[in-house]
Amino acid sequence: MRKPRNVVLLACVVVSSVTVFYLGLSSMECPGPHGHRYGGNQARYSWASQNHLGQNFSSAAATIPLEYNENTPLIFVGGVPRSGTTLIRAMLDAHPLVRCGEETRVIPRLLAMHSTWSRSARERMRLDEAGVTDEVLDAAIRAFLLEVIVGHGEPAPRLCNKDPFTLKSLSYLSRLFPRAKFVLMLRDGRATVHSMISRRVTITGFDLSSYRDCLVKWSRAAESMYEQCREAGHDRCMLLRYEQLVLQPQAAMRSLLGFLDLPWDTAVLHHEQLIGKAGGVSLSKTERSTDQVMNPVNTDALVKWVGKIPADVLKEMADIAPMLSRLGYDPHANPPDYTKLQEPSHDNSTLLVRNQQNRQRQMSRVYKIKRSENVM
Ligand code: A3P
Repeated sequence: MRKPRNVVLLACVVVSSVTVFYLGLSSMECPGPHGHRYGGNQARYSWASQNHLGQNFSSAAATIPLEYNENTPLIFVGGVPRSGTTLIRAMLDAHPLVRCGEETRVIPRLLAMHSTWSRSARERMRLDEAGVTDEVLDAAIRAFLLEVIVGHGEPAPRLCNKDPFTLKSLSYLSRLFPRAKFVLMLRDGRATVHSMISRRVTITGFDLSSYRDCLVKWSRAAESMYEQCREAGHDRCMLLRYEQLVLQPQAAMRSLLGFLDLPWDTAVLHHEQLIGKAGGVSLSKTERSTDQVMNPVNTDALVKWVGKIPADVLKEMADIAPMLSRLGYDPHANPPDYTKLQEPSHDNSTLLVRNQQNRQRQMSRVYKIKRSENVM
Protein backbone atom coordinates (compact mmCIF):
# COMPACT_ATOMS: atom_id res chain seq x y z
CA MET A 1 0.00 0.00 0.00
CA ARG A 2 2.80 2.37 0.95
CA LYS A 3 4.53 2.18 -2.47
CA PRO A 4 1.60 3.51 -4.60
CA ARG A 5 1.02 6.33 -2.09
CA ASN A 6 4.68 7.39 -2.42
CA VAL A 7 4.41 7.34 -6.20
CA VAL A 8 1.30 9.57 -6.09
CA LEU A 9 3.06 11.94 -3.67
CA LEU A 10 6.12 12.12 -5.91
CA ALA A 11 3.95 12.80 -8.98
CA CYS A 12 2.22 15.66 -7.12
CA VAL A 13 5.58 17.20 -6.19
CA VAL A 14 6.79 16.98 -9.83
CA VAL A 15 3.57 18.48 -11.25
CA SER A 16 3.55 21.39 -8.78
CA SER A 17 7.27 22.12 -9.37
CA VAL A 18 6.72 22.23 -13.15
CA THR A 19 3.68 24.50 -12.68
CA VAL A 20 5.62 26.91 -10.42
CA PHE A 21 8.50 26.93 -12.92
CA TYR A 22 6.24 27.82 -15.89
CA LEU A 23 4.32 30.43 -13.91
CA GLY A 24 7.66 32.02 -13.07
CA LEU A 25 8.67 31.99 -16.73
CA SER A 26 5.44 33.55 -17.99
CA SER A 27 5.62 36.37 -15.45
CA MET A 28 9.15 37.13 -16.72
CA GLU A 29 7.81 37.38 -20.27
CA CYS A 30 5.01 39.83 -19.50
CA PRO A 31 5.78 43.37 -20.65
CA GLY A 32 5.75 45.82 -17.76
CA PRO A 33 3.21 48.61 -17.61
CA HIS A 34 5.60 51.12 -19.21
CA GLY A 35 7.53 49.15 -21.71
CA HIS A 36 8.48 45.91 -23.40
CA ARG A 37 10.95 43.47 -21.96
CA TYR A 38 13.18 40.79 -23.32
CA GLY A 39 11.77 37.68 -21.69
CA GLY A 40 12.77 34.20 -20.70
CA ASN A 41 14.10 33.08 -24.10
CA GLN A 42 17.66 33.35 -22.88
CA ALA A 43 18.99 30.87 -25.43
CA ARG A 44 17.82 33.04 -28.31
CA TYR A 45 19.34 36.19 -26.89
CA SER A 46 22.47 34.77 -25.31
CA TRP A 47 24.72 35.66 -28.28
CA ALA A 48 25.06 39.23 -27.10
CA SER A 49 27.25 38.70 -24.10
CA GLN A 50 29.34 41.65 -23.02
CA ASN A 51 32.42 39.74 -24.29
CA HIS A 52 31.01 39.62 -27.80
CA LEU A 53 30.62 43.38 -27.76
CA GLY A 54 34.36 43.88 -27.52
CA GLN A 55 36.56 45.88 -25.19
CA ASN A 56 36.40 49.29 -26.86
CA PHE A 57 32.97 50.36 -25.72
CA SER A 58 31.97 52.00 -22.51
CA SER A 59 29.77 49.62 -20.54
CA ALA A 60 26.79 52.00 -20.81
CA ALA A 61 26.95 52.05 -24.62
CA ALA A 62 27.36 48.27 -24.80
CA THR A 63 24.47 47.36 -22.53
CA ILE A 64 21.38 45.68 -23.92
CA PRO A 65 18.38 47.51 -22.47
CA LEU A 66 15.94 45.43 -20.46
CA GLU A 67 13.02 47.65 -21.23
CA TYR A 68 11.88 49.44 -24.37
CA ASN A 69 9.63 52.48 -24.33
CA GLU A 70 9.15 55.88 -25.93
CA ASN A 71 12.59 56.98 -24.71
CA THR A 72 14.44 54.18 -26.46
CA PRO A 73 16.95 55.77 -28.88
CA LEU A 74 15.81 53.83 -31.94
CA ILE A 75 17.35 54.41 -35.36
CA PHE A 76 15.05 54.61 -38.41
CA VAL A 77 16.63 54.21 -41.85
CA GLY A 78 14.66 54.92 -45.03
CA GLY A 79 14.35 56.68 -48.35
CA VAL A 80 12.82 56.01 -51.75
CA PRO A 81 13.32 52.27 -52.45
CA ARG A 82 16.44 51.59 -54.61
CA SER A 83 18.40 54.40 -52.92
CA GLY A 84 20.87 52.11 -51.14
CA THR A 85 18.77 51.63 -48.02
CA THR A 86 19.68 47.93 -47.67
CA LEU A 87 23.39 48.68 -48.08
CA ILE A 88 23.42 51.28 -45.31
CA ARG A 89 21.43 49.07 -42.93
CA ALA A 90 23.80 46.15 -43.62
CA MET A 91 26.78 48.41 -42.86
CA LEU A 92 25.10 49.46 -39.60
CA ASP A 93 24.28 45.82 -38.82
CA ALA A 94 28.01 45.10 -39.06
CA HIS A 95 28.55 47.45 -36.11
CA PRO A 96 28.71 45.35 -32.92
CA LEU A 97 26.33 47.64 -31.03
CA VAL A 98 23.60 47.86 -33.69
CA ARG A 99 20.93 45.58 -35.09
CA CYS A 100 18.63 46.66 -37.93
CA GLY A 101 17.61 43.42 -39.63
CA GLU A 102 15.38 42.71 -42.56
CA GLU A 103 12.47 44.88 -43.73
CA THR A 104 9.47 44.25 -41.47
CA ARG A 105 6.92 45.36 -44.15
CA VAL A 106 4.19 45.68 -41.50
CA ILE A 107 5.60 48.88 -39.96
CA PRO A 108 5.22 51.14 -43.04
CA ARG A 109 1.74 49.70 -43.62
CA LEU A 110 0.55 50.56 -40.13
CA LEU A 111 2.07 54.04 -40.44
CA ALA A 112 0.35 54.55 -43.81
CA MET A 113 -2.95 53.54 -42.23
CA HIS A 114 -2.41 56.00 -39.40
CA SER A 115 -1.63 58.76 -41.86
CA THR A 116 -4.87 58.01 -43.78
CA TRP A 117 -6.88 58.25 -40.54
CA SER A 118 -5.26 61.48 -39.48
CA ARG A 119 -5.59 63.12 -42.92
CA SER A 120 -9.35 62.62 -42.89
CA ALA A 121 -11.00 65.14 -40.58
CA ARG A 122 -14.24 63.13 -40.68
CA GLU A 123 -12.46 59.94 -39.60
CA ARG A 124 -10.67 61.77 -36.79
CA MET A 125 -13.95 63.09 -35.46
CA ARG A 126 -15.45 59.61 -35.56
CA LEU A 127 -12.47 58.16 -33.70
CA ASP A 128 -12.61 60.96 -31.10
CA GLU A 129 -16.32 60.34 -30.59
CA ALA A 130 -15.54 56.66 -29.96
CA GLY A 131 -12.89 57.54 -27.38
CA VAL A 132 -10.09 56.42 -29.73
CA THR A 133 -8.19 59.62 -29.10
CA ASP A 134 -4.76 60.52 -30.46
CA GLU A 135 -3.26 59.44 -27.12
CA VAL A 136 -4.89 55.99 -27.31
CA LEU A 137 -3.83 55.48 -30.92
CA ASP A 138 -0.30 56.73 -30.34
CA ALA A 139 0.21 54.41 -27.37
CA ALA A 140 -1.09 51.44 -29.38
CA ILE A 141 1.04 52.22 -32.44
CA ARG A 142 4.14 52.80 -30.31
CA ALA A 143 3.62 49.43 -28.61
CA PHE A 144 3.15 47.68 -31.98
CA LEU A 145 6.29 49.24 -33.44
CA LEU A 146 8.39 48.36 -30.40
CA GLU A 147 7.09 44.81 -30.32
CA VAL A 148 8.01 44.26 -33.99
CA ILE A 149 11.36 46.04 -33.88
CA VAL A 150 12.47 44.29 -30.69
CA GLY A 151 11.05 40.89 -31.53
CA HIS A 152 12.01 40.34 -35.19
CA GLY A 153 15.73 39.92 -34.65
CA GLU A 154 18.58 39.57 -32.23
CA PRO A 155 18.90 41.93 -29.27
CA ALA A 156 21.48 44.72 -29.42
CA PRO A 157 22.31 47.86 -27.46
CA ARG A 158 20.92 50.01 -30.33
CA LEU A 159 17.98 48.79 -32.35
CA CYS A 160 17.26 50.10 -35.81
CA ASN A 161 14.49 49.69 -38.35
CA LYS A 162 14.84 49.83 -42.12
CA ASP A 163 11.65 49.87 -44.15
CA PRO A 164 12.21 52.45 -46.92
CA PHE A 165 8.80 54.15 -46.73
CA THR A 166 8.63 54.50 -42.92
CA LEU A 167 10.31 57.86 -43.39
CA LYS A 168 7.14 59.11 -45.10
CA SER A 169 5.93 59.26 -41.47
CA LEU A 170 9.15 60.74 -40.09
CA SER A 171 7.43 63.63 -38.28
CA TYR A 172 4.96 61.31 -36.60
CA LEU A 173 7.71 58.85 -35.62
CA SER A 174 9.79 61.65 -34.14
CA ARG A 175 6.83 62.54 -31.89
CA LEU A 176 6.22 58.89 -30.93
CA PHE A 177 9.91 58.37 -30.09
CA PRO A 178 11.44 61.69 -29.02
CA ARG A 179 14.94 60.19 -28.73
CA ALA A 180 14.90 58.34 -32.06
CA LYS A 181 17.27 59.33 -34.88
CA PHE A 182 16.57 59.15 -38.60
CA VAL A 183 18.82 58.43 -41.58
CA LEU A 184 17.39 59.49 -44.93
CA MET A 185 19.15 57.93 -47.92
CA LEU A 186 19.29 60.18 -50.99
CA ARG A 187 20.25 59.02 -54.46
CA ASP A 188 20.13 60.61 -57.91
CA GLY A 189 16.48 59.99 -58.90
CA ARG A 190 17.51 58.95 -62.41
CA ALA A 191 19.62 56.11 -60.99
CA THR A 192 16.90 55.15 -58.49
CA VAL A 193 14.25 55.01 -61.22
CA HIS A 194 16.54 53.15 -63.63
CA SER A 195 17.17 50.61 -60.84
CA MET A 196 13.46 49.96 -60.25
CA ILE A 197 12.65 49.78 -63.99
CA SER A 198 15.61 47.66 -65.10
CA ARG A 199 15.25 45.23 -62.21
CA ARG A 200 11.42 45.22 -62.39
CA VAL A 201 11.05 46.07 -58.71
CA THR A 202 7.34 46.68 -58.11
CA ILE A 203 6.61 49.71 -55.93
CA THR A 204 3.01 50.69 -55.25
CA GLY A 205 2.02 53.72 -57.35
CA PHE A 206 5.05 53.59 -59.71
CA ASP A 207 4.31 52.70 -63.34
CA LEU A 208 7.36 50.68 -64.33
CA SER A 209 6.63 51.10 -68.05
CA SER A 210 7.29 54.86 -67.86
CA TYR A 211 10.49 56.71 -66.85
CA ARG A 212 8.48 59.92 -66.77
CA ASP A 213 5.87 58.58 -64.32
CA CYS A 214 8.51 56.99 -62.05
CA LEU A 215 10.58 60.21 -61.96
CA VAL A 216 7.49 62.25 -61.04
CA LYS A 217 6.66 59.79 -58.23
CA TRP A 218 10.30 59.66 -57.09
CA SER A 219 10.36 63.45 -56.85
CA ARG A 220 7.16 63.57 -54.76
CA ALA A 221 8.23 60.80 -52.37
CA ALA A 222 11.73 62.28 -51.97
CA GLU A 223 10.24 65.73 -51.31
CA SER A 224 7.91 64.47 -48.58
CA MET A 225 10.69 62.64 -46.73
CA TYR A 226 13.25 65.42 -47.26
CA GLU A 227 10.97 68.11 -45.85
CA GLN A 228 10.12 66.07 -42.79
CA CYS A 229 13.83 65.39 -42.27
CA ARG A 230 14.64 69.09 -42.37
CA GLU A 231 11.76 69.87 -40.07
CA ALA A 232 13.10 67.33 -37.55
CA GLY A 233 16.43 69.19 -37.57
CA HIS A 234 20.09 68.27 -37.93
CA ASP A 235 20.34 66.61 -34.54
CA ARG A 236 17.47 64.20 -35.25
CA CYS A 237 17.71 63.49 -38.99
CA MET A 238 20.74 62.99 -41.21
CA LEU A 239 20.76 63.09 -45.01
CA LEU A 240 23.12 60.51 -46.46
CA ARG A 241 23.90 60.31 -50.15
CA TYR A 242 24.27 56.87 -51.76
CA GLU A 243 26.93 58.36 -54.04
CA GLN A 244 29.01 59.58 -51.09
CA LEU A 245 28.57 56.25 -49.31
CA VAL A 246 30.01 54.21 -52.20
CA LEU A 247 32.67 56.76 -53.25
CA GLN A 248 33.95 57.52 -49.72
CA PRO A 249 32.58 54.81 -47.43
CA GLN A 250 34.91 55.56 -44.56
CA ALA A 251 34.15 59.30 -44.42
CA ALA A 252 30.41 58.66 -44.82
CA MET A 253 30.31 56.03 -42.09
CA ARG A 254 32.41 58.13 -39.71
CA SER A 255 29.97 61.00 -39.96
CA LEU A 256 26.97 58.66 -39.69
CA LEU A 257 28.29 56.93 -36.56
CA GLY A 258 29.13 60.33 -35.04
CA PHE A 259 25.57 61.47 -35.69
CA LEU A 260 24.21 58.30 -34.05
CA ASP A 261 26.53 58.70 -31.03
CA LEU A 262 28.16 55.37 -31.81
CA PRO A 263 31.89 54.64 -31.53
CA TRP A 264 33.89 54.09 -34.71
CA ASP A 265 34.34 50.43 -35.70
CA THR A 266 36.07 49.28 -38.91
CA ALA A 267 33.65 46.33 -39.16
CA VAL A 268 31.16 48.68 -40.83
CA LEU A 269 33.45 48.88 -43.89
CA HIS A 270 33.32 45.10 -44.43
CA HIS A 271 29.68 44.18 -43.89
CA GLU A 272 29.96 41.33 -46.44
CA GLN A 273 32.27 39.42 -44.08
CA LEU A 274 29.60 39.31 -41.37
CA ILE A 275 26.68 38.05 -43.46
CA GLY A 276 24.92 35.18 -41.70
CA LYS A 277 27.17 35.41 -38.62
CA ALA A 278 25.73 35.73 -35.10
CA GLY A 279 25.48 39.39 -34.20
CA GLY A 280 26.33 40.28 -37.82
CA VAL A 281 24.26 40.90 -40.93
CA SER A 282 21.07 38.92 -41.47
CA LEU A 283 19.64 39.04 -45.03
CA SER A 284 16.22 38.00 -46.33
CA LYS A 285 15.90 35.54 -49.24
CA THR A 286 12.95 37.55 -50.55
CA GLU A 287 14.32 41.11 -50.58
CA ARG A 288 15.32 42.40 -54.02
CA SER A 289 18.60 43.96 -52.85
CA THR A 290 20.01 40.86 -51.19
CA ASP A 291 22.05 39.78 -54.27
CA GLN A 292 23.74 43.16 -54.48
CA VAL A 293 24.32 43.69 -50.78
CA MET A 294 26.25 40.41 -50.49
CA ASN A 295 29.11 42.20 -52.32
CA PRO A 296 31.60 44.59 -50.77
CA VAL A 297 30.74 48.28 -51.21
CA ASN A 298 31.31 49.13 -54.89
CA THR A 299 30.65 51.91 -57.41
CA ASP A 300 29.25 49.70 -60.22
CA ALA A 301 25.71 51.11 -60.04
CA LEU A 302 26.59 54.82 -60.02
CA VAL A 303 26.10 55.61 -63.71
CA LYS A 304 24.28 52.57 -65.11
CA TRP A 305 21.31 54.82 -65.87
CA VAL A 306 23.23 56.96 -68.39
CA GLY A 307 21.94 56.38 -71.95
CA LYS A 308 18.82 54.53 -70.74
CA ILE A 309 16.35 57.40 -70.25
CA PRO A 310 14.23 58.50 -73.28
CA ALA A 311 15.35 61.79 -74.92
CA ASP A 312 12.02 63.61 -74.38
CA VAL A 313 12.19 62.83 -70.64
CA LEU A 314 15.83 63.97 -70.43
CA LYS A 315 14.88 67.28 -72.08
CA GLU A 316 12.20 68.07 -69.48
CA MET A 317 14.04 66.53 -66.52
CA ALA A 318 14.15 69.72 -64.41
CA ASP A 319 10.33 70.02 -64.54
CA ILE A 320 9.55 66.32 -64.28
CA ALA A 321 11.70 65.81 -61.20
CA PRO A 322 12.20 69.19 -59.45
CA MET A 323 13.73 67.46 -56.44
CA LEU A 324 16.85 66.65 -58.48
CA SER A 325 17.98 70.30 -58.34
CA ARG A 326 16.82 70.78 -54.75
CA LEU A 327 18.89 67.80 -53.66
CA GLY A 328 21.93 69.10 -55.57
CA TYR A 329 21.82 66.78 -58.63
CA ASP A 330 22.19 68.81 -61.84
CA PRO A 331 19.16 67.71 -63.92
CA HIS A 332 20.96 68.51 -67.19
CA ALA A 333 24.24 66.71 -66.49
CA ASN A 334 24.20 63.11 -67.73
CA PRO A 335 25.79 62.10 -65.41
CA PRO A 336 26.74 64.80 -62.92
CA ASP A 337 30.17 64.68 -61.30
CA TYR A 338 29.20 62.73 -58.19
CA THR A 339 32.39 63.76 -56.41
CA LYS A 340 31.25 67.40 -56.53
CA LEU A 341 27.59 67.39 -55.55
CA GLN A 342 25.94 70.60 -54.32
CA GLU A 343 24.56 70.68 -50.78
CA PRO A 344 20.77 70.15 -50.75
CA SER A 345 19.01 73.51 -50.96
CA HIS A 346 18.01 74.96 -47.57
CA ASP A 347 15.13 77.00 -48.80
CA ASN A 348 12.99 77.00 -45.68
CA SER A 349 10.36 79.37 -46.96
CA THR A 350 8.61 76.87 -49.27
CA LEU A 351 8.43 74.37 -46.43
CA LEU A 352 6.93 76.82 -43.95
CA VAL A 353 4.42 78.15 -46.47
CA ARG A 354 3.33 74.63 -47.40
CA ASN A 355 2.90 73.63 -43.73
CA GLN A 356 0.78 76.68 -43.07
CA GLN A 357 -1.34 75.97 -46.15
CA ASN A 358 -1.85 72.34 -45.07
CA ARG A 359 -2.87 73.39 -41.56
CA GLN A 360 -5.32 75.96 -42.96
CA ARG A 361 -6.78 73.41 -45.38
CA GLN A 362 -7.24 70.89 -42.54
CA MET A 363 -8.89 73.47 -40.27
CA SER A 364 -11.33 74.53 -42.96
CA ARG A 365 -12.18 70.84 -43.64
CA VAL A 366 -12.96 70.29 -39.92
CA TYR A 367 -15.02 73.50 -39.94
CA LYS A 368 -17.00 72.39 -43.02
CA ILE A 369 -17.76 68.97 -41.51
CA LYS A 370 -18.88 70.53 -38.22
CA ARG A 371 -21.10 72.95 -40.11
CA SER A 372 -22.67 70.23 -42.29
CA GLU A 373 -23.33 68.06 -39.22
CA ASN A 374 -24.98 71.03 -37.43
CA VAL A 375 -27.22 71.57 -40.44
CA MET A 376 -28.34 67.91 -40.35
P1 A3P B 1 21.09 49.25 -58.54
O1 A3P B 1 19.80 48.51 -58.70
O2 A3P B 1 21.20 50.51 -59.32
O3 A3P B 1 22.26 48.34 -58.77
P2 A3P B 1 17.71 49.58 -51.95
O4 A3P B 1 18.32 48.55 -51.08
O5 A3P B 1 17.38 50.85 -51.25
O6 A3P B 1 16.53 49.06 -52.71
O7 A3P B 1 18.82 50.00 -53.02
C1 A3P B 1 19.29 49.08 -54.00
C2 A3P B 1 20.53 49.67 -54.67
O8 A3P B 1 21.62 49.60 -53.73
C3 A3P B 1 20.92 48.84 -55.90
O9 A3P B 1 21.17 49.73 -57.00
C4 A3P B 1 22.17 48.14 -55.43
O10 A3P B 1 23.11 47.88 -56.43
C5 A3P B 1 22.76 49.11 -54.42
N1 A3P B 1 23.68 48.33 -53.55
C6 A3P B 1 23.37 47.28 -52.78
N2 A3P B 1 24.48 46.74 -52.27
C7 A3P B 1 25.51 47.47 -52.72
C8 A3P B 1 26.92 47.39 -52.55
N3 A3P B 1 27.47 46.43 -51.84
N4 A3P B 1 27.69 48.35 -53.15
C9 A3P B 1 27.12 49.32 -53.89
N5 A3P B 1 25.81 49.41 -54.11
C10 A3P B 1 25.00 48.50 -53.54
